[in-house]
Amino acid sequence: MTGPADDLVLEIDDLSITFPGGRGFLPWQRLPDVRAVQHVSLSIARGDTLGLVGESGSGKTTIGRAVLRFIRPRSGRIRVGDFDVTGFEGSVPRSFRRAVQVVFQDPVGSLNPSMVVGDIVGEPLRIHAGLSGAARQDRAGDLLEQVGLQRHHLNRYPHEFSGGQRQRIAVARALATDPDLLVLDEPVSALDVSTQSQVINLLERLQRETSAAYLFIAHDLAVVRHVCNRIAVMYHSRIVETGPSDGICDAPAHPYTELLLASIPDPDPEVQTGRSARRRALTIGTAGSVGNAPEDGCPFADRCPHVMDVCRESFPEFTPTLAGGEVACHLHTSGPMLGGAPVGTLGSVGA
Ligand SMILES: Nc1ncnc2c1ncn2[C@@H]1O[C@H](COP(=O)(O)OP(=O)(O)OP(=O)(O)O)[C@@H](O)[C@H]1O
Ligand code: SF4
Ligand SMILES: [Mg+2]
Repeated sequence: MTGPADDLVLEIDDLSITFPGGRGFLPWQRLPDVRAVQHVSLSIARGDTLGLVGESGSGKTTIGRAVLRFIRPRSGRIRVGDFDVTGFEGSVPRSFRRAVQVVFQDPVGSLNPSMVVGDIVGEPLRIHAGLSGAARQDRAGDLLEQVGLQRHHLNRYPHEFSGGQRQRIAVARALATDPDLLVLDEPVSALDVSTQSQVINLLERLQRETSAAYLFIAHDLAVVRHVCNRIAVMYHSRIVETGPSDGICDAPAHPYTELLLASIPDPDPEVQTGRSARRRALTIGTAGSVGNAPEDGCPFADRCPHVMDVCRESFPEFTPTLAGGEVACHLHTSGPMLGGAPVGTLGSVGA
């Protein structure tokens, strides 16, 4: 849930990010800039988890990287606690690096293979807490135990661990600075299903213990629903719907959110058949976030079975949903939505 304004750990306001277009076929040709993120506003309160969900290329990681200040946005504002992230000039303060940590999808690539675990987890303790020697080893051992590993693992190398254990090491390293905000970019996508739930349980327990805010980036709505109290759905550079997790999943307002829900596999063949039929009815194209996102107009227009002329002309205003969130869809801006008509006409797909 979103708390009072002074309880907000992350505030993103009207964020837009572009990447320079590459060279074209001819030597003097330059491709247009890539509109990776357009006019995104989000917030997360202390102790809350916001799920950022959407298909590949929709802009999720780009938002996470801007929050970490790995890239600079074209426009908009990002605030993390008292840090004006978009206002940083030159190098980023060390105190900001302490406050915001990240766990990536690939625990193999994100852990230095030539360092023992004690040094991997101990490095942030040295940089941010000034610990060295036995004190640092001792604290690193505590952190390993906190994530379900053991002290004697301090002397081992990353390749000696399973994928799930490596992700636990990445989480221990992130926790070493006692962060206020954790950016989790597909943290369980590379793991098998049973390991996924162990790592998710770990993240949930740690959040209860630390009250850190989580930005949980994923393409899998089923996982996001389980982990997050709020969800923001992205499509091709834009947020198209936000709201409480259960509300969004029980009563999706945006046609793309409904498509995402209909795409969740179900072990019951009858439910699965119904979902497959619903999925076919919910989209008219096959292309996802390909090509450059439109600057004006709804990015889902080429796939939406409800598309109208206005959809190609302007991006819709956000409108309150019955689920307690907001949706950007012209079906909902023309009036009847607040009475529930568009939600009802689109139907709903349980997750
Ligand atoms: N460094 C870059 N230079 C140019 N274009 C980029 C760069 N990084 C990302 N993009 C483009 O920005 C868009 C958004 O990419 P992003 O990685 O944020 O998507 P994503 O939602 O995280 O996808 P995935 O689920 O595959 O991780 C894509 O079109 C991508 O090709
Ligand atoms: S704005 Fe138009 S094209 Fe976009 S999802 Fe709504 S009805 Fe479909
Ligand atoms: Mg990504």
